[in-house]
Amino acid sequence: MTQTDGTAQDTQRLGADKGSVATAAQLLRDGRLVAFPTETVYGLGADAHNDSAVAAIFQAKNRPAFNPLIVHVPNLDAARAIASFPAPATRLAEAFWPGPLTLVVPLRPSSGLSPLVTAGLDTVAIRIPEHPLARALLTAFGGPVAAPSANPSGKISPTRPEHVLSGLAGRIAAVLDAGPCPVGLESTIVGFAPRPTLLRPGGLPGEIIARCLGAPLASTAPDPATPSAPGQLASHYAPSARVRLNATDRRKGEAFLGFGPIPGDLNLSPSADLAEAAANLFDALCTLDDTGAKAIAVAPIPDTGLGAAINDRLRRAAAPRP
Ligand code: TXA
Ligand code: MG
Repeated sequence: MTQTDGTAQDTQRLGADKGSVATAAQLLRDGRLVAFPTETVYGLGADAHNDSAVAAIFQAKNRPAFNPLIVHVPNLDAARAIASFPAPATRLAEAFWPGPLTLVVPLRPSSGLSPLVTAGLDTVAIRIPEHPLARALLTAFGGPVAAPSANPSGKISPTRPEHVLSGLAGRIAAVLDAGPCPVGLESTIVGFAPRPTLLRPGGLPGEIIARCLGAPLASTAPDPATPSAPGQLASHYAPSARVRLNATDRRKGEAFLGFGPIPGDLNLSPSADLAEAAANLFDALCTLDDTGAKAIAVAPIPDTGLGAAINDRLRRAAAPRP
């Protein structure tokens, strides 16, 4: 009997060995959903050419169909087969791929992608991940893989296989287990219409991208009322507990997430290292949420470098829920 993802099923936990990668690639060819590690967060992959496989991503995550997906490819040639690259996009691709950067570029009519991937837009979000297991899977599969973060829509992105299973077990075919993700924040997203624009801060700091381009990035003002401005829903990455930002003291019933010299139940980075804090952020929010605390208070985080993306995710976690 053919299994359909999104409906009750056993989810295989695969390893990081060659046999596991071959199994995962075959599942993708069969139109199934496979979660896999990237350096940023775990992705929920499907064959980007296969309409029903891509539709199953939206079903398994309960994701609104107007929110398009990122396409993962192993190299620049594969990216160019799908999209055209304006000069600044080529420059960023050559400087930072493979890595935690997604480029939104014009879709080629001949791309062969399922229209569900791009939610009908004439642009496509593409990235070449750096994680060796992601690269092995993309190479073994041999085609573009559509993959949002492997969490139920609106929840915190998974940085460990256990997070993937707690959100999606029974709804997907398999997860490839490579332990924790080293970056821990989703990729930075840059668009080019009409000029280089930061669409989502993420694992590659905006300052570094601007330095490469020799000019600051434009930024988009998120409009929470217009969810078709993709990925900009105000309430996102939400734990069950309420979240209080820039806290310096603990209120009754709160769990406390520290940073640097401000201690807590957990500390994102006792040495105030933003890369360490980014890698720990989502797991720490999940762990404190699991204590059943009614709120999580978070110490102030500097807003420079990776701190901009950390604060972006924290603001969304703290935003009023729909
Ligand atoms: O690090 C990451 O980016 C992870 C890993 C798995 O690669 N993926 C990820 O995917 O975070 P997701 O679906 O959770 O976020 C993708 C974002 C969404 O905010 C979506 O709206 C935006 O990319 N996006 C996709 N296509 C777009 C497009 N054509 N124009 C503008 N934004 C787009
Ligand atoms: Mg996501």
